[in-house]
Amino acid sequence: MITILGLGFVGLTTGLGFSKKGFKTFGIDINEERLNKLRNYEIPFHEPHLKEVLTETLGTTFFLDVPFDEAIKNSEAVFICVGTPSAPDGSADLKYILAAIDQIVDVADRKFKVIVTKSTVPPSTVSKRVKPYIDEKLKQLDRSIGLASNPEFLREGYCWEDFIEPDRIVLGVEDEKSKDILNTIYKPFNAPIHYVSYNSAEYIKYLSNTLLSTLISYSNEMSMVADAIGDIDVPTAFRILHEDKRWFGKPASMAKYVYPGCGYGGYCLPKDTSALDSIAKEHGVTPHILTGNLKINNEVKEFVSNKITSKVKKDEPIGILGLSFKPESDDVRLTPSKDIIEKLLAQGYTNLFAYDPLANNEFEAAYPELKIQYEKSLPDILSKTDHVVILTGWKEFKENENSITQKNVFDYRYMF
Ligand SMILES: NC(=O)c1ccc[n+]([C@@H]2O[C@H](COP(=O)([O-])OP(=O)(O)OC[C@H]3O[C@@H](n4cnc5c(N)ncnc54)[C@H](O)[C@@H]3O)[C@@H](O)[C@H]2O)c1
Repeated sequence: MITILGLGFVGLTTGLGFSKKGFKTFGIDINEERLNKLRNYEIPFHEPHLKEVLTETLGTTFFLDVPFDEAIKNSEAVFICVGTPSAPDGSADLKYILAAIDQIVDVADRKFKVIVTKSTVPPSTVSKRVKPYIDEKLKQLDRSIGLASNPEFLREGYCWEDFIEPDRIVLGVEDEKSKDILNTIYKPFNAPIHYVSYNSAEYIKYLSNTLLSTLISYSNEMSMVADAIGDIDVPTAFRILHEDKRWFGKPASMAKYVYPGCGYGGYCLPKDTSALDSIAKEHGVTPHILTGNLKINNEVKEFVSNKITSKVKKDEPIGILGLSFKPESDDVRLTPSKDIIEKLLAQGYTNLFAYDPLANNEFEAAYPELKIQYEKSLPDILSKTDHVVILTGWKEFKENENSITQKNVFDYRYMF
């Protein structure tokens, strides 16, 4: 049995979804007006499909008027789906979540149950706020409670479709009993289930939403830049942008660009981003996203070299795998490898070896001032060093994962 606290877009859909899958589900809300509508088979907001499911399940597997303590006592899982509005300083206001937890813990008995945060909460909320809060409360009470974080990715307008046919299910869960309960609940959805830490689960939700908001702000910033330059048909330009095959995964998908690493390089992205940043400023527009984008591309190389120097001693040999700015190319213009090698040398790491399947000669010719030793093959470089840093995502490296991962690997192309 499952209890849902909060019957808004997320909670009502979740409750109806579980009841449709055959789980006995209790829906609880503090808003009487909302409850009255639901009792009359009315959905309190516009959302297709929910009315039909409510009509089908209310009174059979979905229940609204079960007393709160009875619902909690009988449930193996309690999903918190209350709102998490912004506090005046922009942080997430957790008062509804903490109030809901108080109510649950106060009436729970000794039977194990898992409290699942489905509301969107910033990474570290469960580990740093909810868990200590519950642990403190449980010191005085003899209760057996697990915690989980289960972010929801549904879109308003498509709540039902997105919930019932999810792309993936993310479960931040750190104890076996809670994991078993949630596995039983989500198995019927036939979607990939990812078990991760509490923080990772919360982070994945923000990763998704902030990417979307960045894409929108990026588009808006670009339209302001276009307007300032003049004579640019913005809607047409964006429509043509969308004709790029990469949006549709042919031959490679746009997802390829949404991986962190050691920064972008090559002939086009750095110079073109700088040029647009510069002409926007000339036309009186402050392009925050473009300027921030360039700044991050510099900072990430500092981040990478600091990660290496924090783990490796100065006299130890380090193997650099990859010199070109991307695989299947020998282009070394503005390649991140150059900046990272330069930073390591500047910090006194002079025992550097490098290997690139195609670009050894090009790199040496372009950057003769960098005093490093070039190796002819992957086995050669691996025989010289215990530490390897992957800076270009060559297929050869992926194919030799077993031998590379014998070493201490700094993988900045997310290959393994
Ligand atoms: N709306 C979306 O598209 C969407 C998508 C994914 C995630 N989320 C997240 O899910 C959470 C809920 O969003 P929503 O849009 O469903 O909110 P909502 O405001 O529509 O619903 C929240 C409900 O919780 C009820 N509530 C508050 N405190 C309660 C308590 N102690 N006990 C029982 N009920 C209580 C409120 O009365 C309200 O009906 C938020 O954290 C939101 O960020 C929303």
